[in-house]
Amino acid sequence: MKNTVAVGIQWGDEGKGKIVDLLAPEADVVARFQGGPNAGHTLVIGGRKTVLHLLPSGILHENTQCLIGNGTVVAPETLVEEMDTLLAAGVPVTDRLSISDRCQLILPYHRALDAARERARGAGRIGTTGRGIGPAYEDKTARRGIRLIDLCDEALLNEKIAANLDWTNFQLTQYFKTEPVARAEIDAVLDLARTRLLPLMDDVSSILHARHREGASILFEGAQGVMLDLDFGTYPFVTSSNTVAGAAMAGLGVGPGMIESVLGICKAYTTRVGAGPFPTELYNADGLDDPAGRHLAERGHEFGATTGRPRRTGWFDAVAVRHAVRVAGVTELAITKLDVLDGLSAVKLCVGYELDGERIETVPADARTLARCIPVYETLAGWDERTLGARSADQLPAAARALLSRIEEVCECPVALLSTGPDREHVIRFAS
Ligand code: IMP
Repeated sequence: MKNTVAVGIQWGDEGKGKIVDLLAPEADVVARFQGGPNAGHTLVIGGRKTVLHLLPSGILHENTQCLIGNGTVVAPETLVEEMDTLLAAGVPVTDRLSISDRCQLILPYHRALDAARERARGAGRIGTTGRGIGPAYEDKTARRGIRLIDLCDEALLNEKIAANLDWTNFQLTQYFKTEPVARAEIDAVLDLARTRLLPLMDDVSSILHARHREGASILFEGAQGVMLDLDFGTYPFVTSSNTVAGAAMAGLGVGPGMIESVLGICKAYTTRVGAGPFPTELYNADGLDDPAGRHLAERGHEFGATTGRPRRTGWFDAVAVRHAVRVAGVTELAITKLDVLDGLSAVKLCVGYELDGERIETVPADARTLARCIPVYETLAGWDERTLGARSADQLPAAARALLSRIEEVCECPVALLSTGPDREHVIRFAS
């Protein structure tokens, strides 16, 4: 397998976990480069559903080395819980996993701040996952973050924690008028990180360079999606990290020469959780109730893996995907959940936006302007046949094939992979 970066190119939840899990047996290394426990990927292990938030999606594969890069933010208790679930199921996680010494830790005060800020924003809230992602990345850029390596210097760690807690509790109690976080709560998390994560700490950049030199193939696993990118997404309704493929380099300590292809993963329709503009939206929990949107929500089981929130659903937005293809340098598309469209009499594709009476072809930088964009649709024929579980292109109805070709044209990118159902085998690979 070529060294590939796999990124979501909508608003997250595109099915990256399934695609990475599918490609993982062909990769020698799977490396996470950004995000944290805001991501969620549901796996079924021994008949039991498990949601992975931080572990790379290659973790179940015997010969795959898994790495968590410096660009991620790690909540020790979440990671340890995931590790324990898999260890109990007989997966030797600790033999396969290394965590960067430069990883930032998410501590209880980050979650407290995330919650307090969202409450204070009221109707203007971002709809974060509440996992402390924003505050943890803020501490990183403010140069007061706690990194895994800091656990090796007790005196300095104590000093940093005391200063951070002082500042955070001041904000919590004085500005947000809420409860402070107790030092004991932080110490418990740090103790857990010390005993369970320090043994897995390593220099991830050096590991990658060594593996690359010996010819190993590397899969770089992104989280969230390009429309949630801190710079190129629908700011401020975004996550707090860069989700484009370029982030793989800074998030792991490698150069662009190591990357040979970029796989952009998107659904055959669109979903979004949290607030922010969504031009093709048809259905949401706040009362928007178009029958096609409800079909997508129900057939697609569109509930967030991390928060359980119902997802907003809508038609495929080719303007957004084309933007994501460009800013993330996507070379091939993987389209997931095609089967969810089965049974719809017509399928719509948003191929442009209308803004103040003018047609535009790109995503405006300003979220309020994007919210005013009206989708320009092309209507394609739907199909009655089942594509669920299809494993070759000739099992697809002509209308489904026509939709895929049109997506390739409008998004200016070839489709390399198509997922037609939840199982690993429910996939079609197209020759490039
Ligand atoms: P945060 O990353 O928790 O700060 O949330 C910021 C925005 O990104 C919110 O709209 C979240 O719903 C969204 N978000 C974060 N992670 C994911 C994900 O893995 N899938 C989908 N949306 C996400």
